[in-house]
Amino acid sequence: MNEPEVLLSEDRIAERVREIAREISADYADKDGVVLIGVLKGSFIFLADLSRALSIPRSIEFIAVSSYASGSRSTGAVRLIMDVRGNIENRHVLIVEDIVDTGHTLKYLLGILQSHRPASIRTCTLLHKADCVEVDVDIDYVGFQIGDEWVVGYGLDYAERDRTLPYIGVVAPDDRG
Ligand code: PRP
Repeated sequence: MNEPEVLLSEDRIAERVREIAREISADYADKDGVVLIGVLKGSFIFLADLSRALSIPRSIEFIAVSSYASGSRSTGAVRLIMDVRGNIENRHVLIVEDIVDTGHTLKYLLGILQSHRPASIRTCTLLHKADCVEVDVDIDYVGFQIGDEWVVGYGLDYAERDRTLPYIGVVAPDDRG
C-alpha cells in the first residue's frame, strides 16, 4: 500500500479554509447568524475548521445520507439516514460538504432541507469535481476544483481508510481495489 500522493497540503487547505470563512462571514454579516449543516461523515474535519474560522454567530447541525454506489461512482440513489436534530425553520442554513462529485447528494439534501422551511439555503464544498457533475446544483462556496481522482484525507476516505490524514492525497490506481 503506497502513501497517497499529496494533492493539497495541510497549509494550503488551512489558508483556503480561512479565505472561505472570511467570505462567508462577510456575506452573512447582516443576518442573525448561520446554521452550518455538516454532511456525515466526510465533512467533519472541514466543518470543524471552517466553523472555528468564522467571525459570525453560528450553530452546528449534522445530517447523514447514504448513496448507493456502483464502483467508485454514486448511482444517484440517495437515502436519508439521519435528519437534522434542531429546528432550522426561518434560519439561514449553509450545507457543508467535503466533496461534490456527481451532485446527486447535494441536490437530494437541498430537497430535504427545503422541507424544513429555512430562511435561506446556501451550499459550500471544500472540493468540487466539476468534470463529473451529472445534475446541476448551485454551489455558493468552493474550496478547490479537482479532477476525476480518488482523494482521501481531511475527512475523505477510501473504504474508511485515510480519513484523518492531515492533507488531501490521491489514491494510486493500484491501491483501489
Ligand atoms: C461523499 C461526499 C458527498 C458525496 C458526494 O460521501 O461526502 O456526500 O459523496 O457525491 P455525489 O456528488 O456523487 O453525490 P460518501 O458517500 O463518500 O460518504 P461519507 O461522507 O460518509 O464518506
